[in-house]
Amino acid sequence: MRRLLVTGGAGFIGSNFVRYWIKQHPEDRVVNLDVLTYAGNLENLADVAAAPGYQFVRGDIADRLSVKQLMEDEQIDTVVNFAAESHVDRSILGPEAFITTNIIGTFSLLEAAREVWADFNGTQRFLHVSTDEVYGSLAQDEPAFDEQHAYAPNSPYSASKASSDHLVRAYHHTYGMPVLTTNCSNNYGPYQFPEKLIPLTILNALEGKPIPVYGDGKNIRDWLYVDDHCSGIETVLRGGAPGRVYNIGGINEWRNIDIVNLICERLDELKPGAASYKAQITYVTDRPGHDQRYAIDAGRMQTELGWSPQHDFQSGIERTIQWYLGHLDWCDRVRSGEYRDYYVQQYGEPVKS
Ligand code: NAD
Ligand code: DAU
Repeated sequence: MRRLLVTGGAGFIGSNFVRYWIKQHPEDRVVNLDVLTYAGNLENLADVAAAPGYQFVRGDIADRLSVKQLMEDEQIDTVVNFAAESHVDRSILGPEAFITTNIIGTFSLLEAAREVWADFNGTQRFLHVSTDEVYGSLAQDEPAFDEQHAYAPNSPYSASKASSDHLVRAYHHTYGMPVLTTNCSNNYGPYQFPEKLIPLTILNALEGKPIPVYGDGKNIRDWLYVDDHCSGIETVLRGGAPGRVYNIGGINEWRNIDIVNLICERLDELKPGAASYKAQITYVTDRPGHDQRYAIDAGRMQTELGWSPQHDFQSGIERTIQWYLGHLDWCDRVRSGEYRDYYVQQYGEPVKS
């Protein structure tokens, strides 16, 4: 039996992970620590909120004393750190929150764990969830990022994640803390906040708004269904070697414009309108410093730990589109006043009348 502290468990991946873990391991304790920023939503976990081993605690990972107390009270042996500011465009508009949460917050969490786990007894694990963006940008013909790839973060977001990765690494090297780091590619699936490309495209299409495509739309991302990320994290927690880094990816590269076209074509079938949704695609000013291509070499996950993604993109995107169509009320509720302000700043028009 494990006693988990999941941070950022009310966000997109965190809530999928909490649900995944409770289903797979109903005997475990799962404490979800989340400060509930605009991206954190307890409604994401309504179906598991009453599960016997589950507890939500509202709090900030940067509040070291409270985190320490919580870890002691709950006898936490496993930390899974999802809590972060996660949106690149927001990091360009205002980087400070990224420094505070992603760097100082991770540092505080490490310190709390170091104090509580004064002696590492072999059962503890501190798993830090990071991103492929720390490796920078790939040219079309370059091989995918493996774990030895040099760090070259290009946005305030990725630089803050890179910084947190270095802290996590140092806590293993210096103090022997049993850390694990996962660097994952773009996730998609249910409960993703609609500021990210896939849900934004679905909702703007349905709402008759411009579908913003940055630059020429030829930037490439590697897409992983969120449940596969959850199983990857579980695999690393079970079999990963402390101090080791694991790249998790979908082996599934797409140009942005191709994904946007694919979504429009499927919506044309599911919700036909007078014209194709493709007519709403609007090329807009590029993201400053926009990374051209990400691709993950997940070879270590496959050969050392026997993990590989189980969802193909066709079925994953179909599930995702269907989920958003069935949860338009959720979308309305999470797009609060704060999101409307952000949308105007980023795209220059109100999200909804
Ligand atoms: P998200 O923005 O949907 O959720 C982040 C969650 O963290 C929210 O619930 C928020 O309330 C919480 N949070 C923020 N600051 C906090 C703080 N100081 N203390 C406690 N909670 C706080 O993010 P996501 O897309 O689910 O990403 C989760 C993690 O996975 C992040 O660390 C991100 O860098 C990483 N990641 C994301 C992706 C992706 O495609 N979304 C890919 C690779 C890695
Ligand atoms: O690669 C992993 C990363 O994936 C995570 O670390 C981040 O937390 C997560 O947000 C995601 O970052 P991206 O910047 O790749 O995701 P986003 O959905 O914002 O953008 C995907 C691509 O689509 C990117 O090339 C920018 C482009 N884009 C995005 C938006 C929001 C557009 O063309 N138009 C848009 O309106």
